[in-house]
Amino acid sequence: MVYGKILLPGLALFLAAAALPASARNDRSRAAAVYMDASAPIEDRVEDLLSRMTLSEKIYQLNQYVLGENDNTNNIGDVVEECPGEIGSLIYFGESAVTRNAMQKRAVEQTRLGIPVLFGYDVIHGFRTVYPIPLAQAASWNPDLAARACRVAACEAASSGIDWTFSPMVDIARDARWGRMAEGYGEDPHLCSVFAAAAVKAYQGDSLAAENSIASCLKHFVGYGASEAGRDYVPTEISRQTLWDTYLPSFKAGVDAGAVTLMSSFNNISGIPGSANSYTMTEILKGRWGHKGFVVADWNAVEQLINQGLASDRKEAARLAFNAGLDMDMVDGCYQEHLASLLNDNTVSEERLDDAVRRVLRVKFMLGLFENPYTEELPESERFLLPSSLDVAEQLAQETMVLLKNEGGVLPVGDDVSCIALVGPLAKSREDLLGSWSGRGRAEDVTSIFDGLSSALSGRAELLYAQGCDFEKNDTSLFAEAVSAASRADMVILCLGEKRSWSGENASRSTIALPPVQEKLLAAVKRTGKPVVVLLSNGRALDLTRISPAADAVLEIWQPGVRGGNAVAGILTGKYNPSGKLPVTFPYTTGQIPIYYNRRSSGRTGMQGRYQDIPSTPMYGFGFGLSYSDFSYGTLTVCVDGSGNRVSSGEGVLDFTLGQTLTAEVTVTNTGDTDGKETVQWYIRDPYCSVTRPVRELKHFEKQMIASGESRTFRFEIDPVRDLGFVDSGGNPFIEPGDYFIMVGDQKVTVRLGSPE
Ligand code: BGC
Repeated sequence: MVYGKILLPGLALFLAAAALPASARNDRSRAAAVYMDASAPIEDRVEDLLSRMTLSEKIYQLNQYVLGENDNTNNIGDVVEECPGEIGSLIYFGESAVTRNAMQKRAVEQTRLGIPVLFGYDVIHGFRTVYPIPLAQAASWNPDLAARACRVAACEAASSGIDWTFSPMVDIARDARWGRMAEGYGEDPHLCSVFAAAAVKAYQGDSLAAENSIASCLKHFVGYGASEAGRDYVPTEISRQTLWDTYLPSFKAGVDAGAVTLMSSFNNISGIPGSANSYTMTEILKGRWGHKGFVVADWNAVEQLINQGLASDRKEAARLAFNAGLDMDMVDGCYQEHLASLLNDNTVSEERLDDAVRRVLRVKFMLGLFENPYTEELPESERFLLPSSLDVAEQLAQETMVLLKNEGGVLPVGDDVSCIALVGPLAKSREDLLGSWSGRGRAEDVTSIFDGLSSALSGRAELLYAQGCDFEKNDTSLFAEAVSAASRADMVILCLGEKRSWSGENASRSTIALPPVQEKLLAAVKRTGKPVVVLLSNGRALDLTRISPAADAVLEIWQPGVRGGNAVAGILTGKYNPSGKLPVTFPYTTGQIPIYYNRRSSGRTGMQGRYQDIPSTPMYGFGFGLSYSDFSYGTLTVCVDGSGNRVSSGEGVLDFTLGQTLTAEVTVTNTGDTDGKETVQWYIRDPYCSVTRPVRELKHFEKQMIASGESRTFRFEIDPVRDLGFVDSGGNPFIEPGDYFIMVGDQKVTVRLGSPE
């Protein structure tokens, strides 16, 4: 076994293999061919090229190999030592365009048809300028800002030779034991859908062919986040109803936003693995949604159909995946080895082969690869960590941070604080602030919390430092030093949390509480009687049952990326006013998992159906987050078709009919003495429906800056079919006559849809 399936470990290897037989040399007539004519419609170019391709050339287009040294240690495979210039795609582990260009030259100039290779990479939350993990981005409730960060990522990646990112991950995650919660946008289908669309549009830009656009890939299609017991790669049990109402909407939103590729998921979906699932890939994606791009397998996912008990060998795995609609095989070579013989056996059709090849070629034409196959080789200083990129990273980081507790207004740090003890295993860590899947990010690029705070407090307060403990194990020998620093200081800032390797792929945990040594450190510094502010850096929801009550303030900083320390310092000192809100429920303890706000009601309520040993409510709910400002909500009103026909919260019922639109409105006043951003969250509920509905469903949100003493009006334009309707287990949208609740804060208006005449 070899870690990281590495093809072409060095440039020398593929250049050595570059001499091609005379029969495969450049087709001189190709310059005049329709497929080389940039002014011809893409579909004509696809058909022309397809008509010229041999079976072998077609099959090559449906395979992806790896170029460079794989940095994902979870991806285990064989070593393959040569790569043909006809290959469809490569996962590219280069940091500059140099190796890409050399490989591309081979494909474009030394193969018969000159089809460019598509270079993909996991650009998950930044390429070199690493910004907060996707879960944190969702906590900003600011998709425009997250999109600006995705744009930076696209520019850095594109200028380094990447055409295609395996992002965004739009899996709904309701189990924080699953490490990949970090990579997605949380538990809510609407929030996830909005961020999915924003990321897709930002990566792909106005035109995929533009210089700094990269193709996006929605993953993992579908239901990967439902992994049982929070373990990675294991089966999922998803009813058709839940597939449609919970797991598919974020993919649909990404497809509607123009995502040209999707990645099939590893998980077995109630008996049929995602990578061999014709219902999801062919019937839904390509059929009902009309997606014209292609589906790539996740790493080795075709071969894994054998371990999953669906296919008896690699050939059968290739047949099942391909016929189910999986167009491109990632690295395991099953398609390369077996597609020709499957065609020969008539168990795979030529139509299906041509359909898959068309899809891959279409994306290559859309990206403009035939016109611009090479990437300009620019120095790092022109590509990475530009001041404007770092500024986006800092703004996004500060908007993602969630103030969970602020007893007695201990934050921001007051002028009376002249000495602070900065304690904890994360205080000086750079590496851990990067989070998982940090692309080409480097620890040395990161401002640590210590560094950020040192410069923010310079000339204002003294900063003492003590590590206090390691992330885990039971060594308490450093406690005394931490307690001594705390005793000398006016305030303690305690940096707790997870190492970056504790979340991400293949990083499940059986408990989401922090290791006992960290909780004990908190208890020890708390005994000094000094106010204790806990900073938490982590890639999932945490169990804070022993942390929150012991802290005076708690700030969730997630894994905030290269400007994390600056953003933290800005919030602690009051330069920034925290505005993040949780995109996932923080349970009371791990035992509440799975827990999410949009559950259905149970039959017995009140004291029944509760836990005997813990509360049944979470520690911090979805959408929760404090500010240094106070926001007061005026009366919620809803009107029909912008008319005077309106009802306010606490009044009667507002009647409407299909075809009419409803407008909900609330005015929010900042009654604090600090300017701040507030996110208004609009929920609906259908209390009785032929398919029972969740107790609350987020349908719209908006974040606005409100200056101290000022008011802003927030509106939710309700399209009844879109916002009040639901979907049945066959994926058919419907809306029923009757009452619906429109909810904001703790207010509710009932609207009533009349029966059709
Ligand atoms: C992950 C994908 C990733 C792929 C390629 C897999 O192990 O599940 O999310 O895109 O590797 O690196």
